[in-house]
Amino acid sequence: MSRILVQDALAATAPRDSLLLQGWVRTRRDAKAFSFIELNDGSSLRGIQIIANATLPDYAHIERVTTGAALEVRGKLVPSQGQGQKWEVIADAFTIVGEADATYPLQKKGHTMEFLREIAHLRPRSNLFGAVFRVRSRLAFAIHQFFQDKGFFYIHTPIVTASDCEGAGELFRVSTLDPKNPPKKPDGAIDYQQDFFAKPTYLTVSGQLEAEIFACALSNVYTFGPTFRAENSNTSRHAAEFWMIEPEMAFCDLQGDMTLAEEFVKYLIRDAKEHCAADLEFFGKFVDKELLKRHDFVLERPFQRCTYTDAIQILETCGRKWEHPVKWGDNMQSEHERFLAEEHFKCPVTVYNYPRTLKPFYMRVNDDGRTVTAMDLLVPGIGEIIGGSQREERLEVLRESMAQHKLSEKEYWWYLDLRRFGTVPHAGFGLGFERMLMFVTGVGNIRDVIPFARTPGTAEF
Ligand code: 4AD
Ligand code: MG
Repeated sequence: MSRILVQDALAATAPRDSLLLQGWVRTRRDAKAFSFIELNDGSSLRGIQIIANATLPDYAHIERVTTGAALEVRGKLVPSQGQGQKWEVIADAFTIVGEADATYPLQKKGHTMEFLREIAHLRPRSNLFGAVFRVRSRLAFAIHQFFQDKGFFYIHTPIVTASDCEGAGELFRVSTLDPKNPPKKPDGAIDYQQDFFAKPTYLTVSGQLEAEIFACALSNVYTFGPTFRAENSNTSRHAAEFWMIEPEMAFCDLQGDMTLAEEFVKYLIRDAKEHCAADLEFFGKFVDKELLKRHDFVLERPFQRCTYTDAIQILETCGRKWEHPVKWGDNMQSEHERFLAEEHFKCPVTVYNYPRTLKPFYMRVNDDGRTVTAMDLLVPGIGEIIGGSQREERLEVLRESMAQHKLSEKEYWWYLDLRRFGTVPHAGFGLGFERMLMFVTGVGNIRDVIPFARTPGTAEF
């Protein structure tokens, strides 16, 4: 007999005389003549109720059917007598596949999120984390579906790279040199000529530059992969390793870029609502009471658009005392981004045309000479989830921006070539996958939407 997943058993349309279930015991309650076992196999939020009669030969082992134990059950699927579930299983036989003693940490009582992070190898067996990672899986699939349906091609950009796309210097070095005794140049500097790649190399902070290459050949492309940033910021929204989706479109300007970003975010929310309804309902009950309302609100309305200059004026004149006062030319802090999305516009807002000095070298310079065609999508509860721009397609302007950022034309010769041969207006953005998951699930800390968080000082598991 082959195994049936709990999810499929619960969705059955008729009773079954025999079925095989395998999973982990959540709880066991003993009555006089039988025991109730709740079995969960991770296929759905809900477990299935098993009734093990005391007359079963295996019943002698019932004391070993403990929370956390792996169990195999053969039995009949019958309409449930009890409240709250349509089906239950009358066991004909059960086998304890793997025992769990009383030290199993996920006993019924509630645990803090901090504690659950310390047991990241067991937390996927809890309701909350099972739900988070089912949604994560579904949305990873939906991302491909969204782009593939639109004719975008999926490009695998390299993880090891010699370039610093964002220019923020937040790079993890990749090297095989002996840290105790690295080869030196006559001036005492480390000689990376002798390193594995014969030059300094790093883990990528973004696949954008390589995606641009492919957009300028296949027109519409996207990347979806891990990115790495050695930002020493211990916030609820920053991870040192996170996943980013980066579409890049040839013959596209900033307006088209913003339109795609809005469509994409709405698509993912809609997809989660459709395919992860039970998990979202759980988040709405136990994580964030406003969640489901917020999803609908976000889906129903067009996102607002606002220039950086207007946004700064709003922040300066709204009468609020800021922890970090802000004026034209400053980076917006999280408190400002959240104010715009949560209190001023009360919906997702795309801020665009940022000061040139705040942004990386590749963004297209506007006619005013002091702003670039950057855009950030800010959402309630989180702030920035998307950063993007139209790219500088004019060779001479790009060279000037590179000079301002002290970038070597020799290193970026291939990037300049794209502007030498058949250059086109093009644009793209990056969506932080974990930030999107925070938005969809209401989970407040990035450490809890990625299986194993890498943050300053933490790389366990
Ligand atoms: O705004 P960012 O830095 O933009 C880029 O990397 C561009 N190259 C993207 C592009 O145009 N192709 O990052 C994009 C998004 C942010 O909006 C945020 O959602 C996420 O990536 N992100 C992070 N997520 C988690 N932890 C971090 N440390 C993050 N840094 C950025
Ligand atoms: Mg950004």
